[in-house]
Amino acid sequence: MPSLVVVGSQWGDEGKGKIVDFLANEANVVVRYQGGNNAGHSVKIGERLFALHLVPSGILRPGKTAIIGNGVVVDPGALLKEMNDLESKGVSIKNLRISDRANVIMPYHRLLDGAEERLREGAKVGTTGRGIGPSYSDKVARLGIRMVDLVDENALSEKLGFLVPLKQRMLDAYGDRAKLDLEAIRREYVDYGIKLAKYVTDTGEIVGDSIRRGKKVLFEGAQGTMLDIDHGTYPFVTSSTTVASNAASGSGISPLLLDEVYGVVKAYTTRVGEGPFPTELTDDLGRTIAEKGGEFGTTTGRPRRCGWLDLVVTGYANSLSGLSGIALTKIDVLGGIGDLKVCTHYAVGGKRVLRIPADLKKLERCEPKYATLKGWDEIDVPEMKRVLSRGFTALPENMKKYVRFVENRMKVPVVLLGLGRRRNEILDLRKSKWKTRRK
Ligand code: GDP
Ligand code: IMO
Ligand code: MG
Repeated sequence: MPSLVVVGSQWGDEGKGKIVDFLANEANVVVRYQGGNNAGHSVKIGERLFALHLVPSGILRPGKTAIIGNGVVVDPGALLKEMNDLESKGVSIKNLRISDRANVIMPYHRLLDGAEERLREGAKVGTTGRGIGPSYSDKVARLGIRMVDLVDENALSEKLGFLVPLKQRMLDAYGDRAKLDLEAIRREYVDYGIKLAKYVTDTGEIVGDSIRRGKKVLFEGAQGTMLDIDHGTYPFVTSSTTVASNAASGSGISPLLLDEVYGVVKAYTTRVGEGPFPTELTDDLGRTIAEKGGEFGTTTGRPRRCGWLDLVVTGYANSLSGLSGIALTKIDVLGGIGDLKVCTHYAVGGKRVLRIPADLKKLERCEPKYATLKGWDEIDVPEMKRVLSRGFTALPENMKKYVRFVENRMKVPVVLLGLGRRRNEILDLRKSKWKTRRK
């Protein structure tokens, strides 16, 4: 029963989209199981760039079933726009399915996201402003509208009848000037429901049946471990469970159906938004890495903070998600910047710290301790061709050492190595393709 979960091991933007696109070639079904259109997964095919937010990256491989699972929060307007954009670029969305249990992001969620951020003053999270937090809050408070309601005009009207006045009270109490127009919202969302109805179904059944029938199912994580609502740098996190275990609950299957987990690890670290970041480089080197790596948000265009690879962070991701392989991405970006540092542990008051503490005040006191590794020159175009045709042995010696260092410290094999933005700029180091742990 071959199923494989791909999770972010840092603060998101590790290159999950590209890894999922690569693996989707071998898969039958690709599933998003959490997050919403706060995600931005970019995939470069030749000169064409695709930025996916809600639709699984597997959609770019013809014939694959692409599923938006129950654990995702769906902004139907944003989803329809993404579907139209994909179709206008010649990508078929015929095989897209959306869970009838997925919660819907409403206009008041976006307004409340903005209002809450404004009112947090000195304690802003730096959200994407997409209404993610308020939508998950409503889900848990049992005030959510689900896809099954969206496609049923009566159910939708009934819910909006009490939800819109309730949310207006919240906006008023927050001092927000926005006035919600119940009838306009109703009309807009009834129309979305009509347009999306044919895609909405019980996707848990499809995913479970596919795995049981021996089909290969790929789970596409969004965000990253350090943004997890429970395990991340709370409150500077997103509002969903980003670790691998949620692939089961967020897509409506048993955890016993999950076979393997690949953690996507960027060869350095980035973070968008606020919150602690022990290995951050606030100097020119940080800016150089940001420029070389094109570290600007896929969703909001915001510049990403950059720093050295932090093995305390990735070790924590491993302990939470149980990685069977590492997809190490963007290692090409580290070429030509001299010696490289990798954080192996933190120190606080002379004591070694090897695990991310819950207390952010303690995390802020953590002093990252580094190993220094020799750098390598940038790989030029002819050399890249040689590397892609000859494989790992053709890599610069010091790059190989960097990869081995990560593997040895994490005690997890590097199975995929990202060497550039394009689809083919990747080395497949798996011993066997898509093996399963269990028979
Ligand atoms: P995601 O959110 O984890 O899917 O990552 P993003 O797509 O937001 O950000 C990763 C960025 O790095 C994108 O612009 C990718 O095209 C790019 N990228 C992915 N893998 C590699 C790689 O191995 N090398 C380089 N240079 N760029 C990469
Ligand atoms: P992908 O899937 C990086 C960050 C935001 C903010 C915090 C909360 O592309 O890796 P939210 O809007 O979710 O309430 O914002 O989480 N964030 C991300 N950072 N990559 C993402 O997704 C992110 N999704 C949310 O910047 O700090
Ligand atoms: Mg991203």
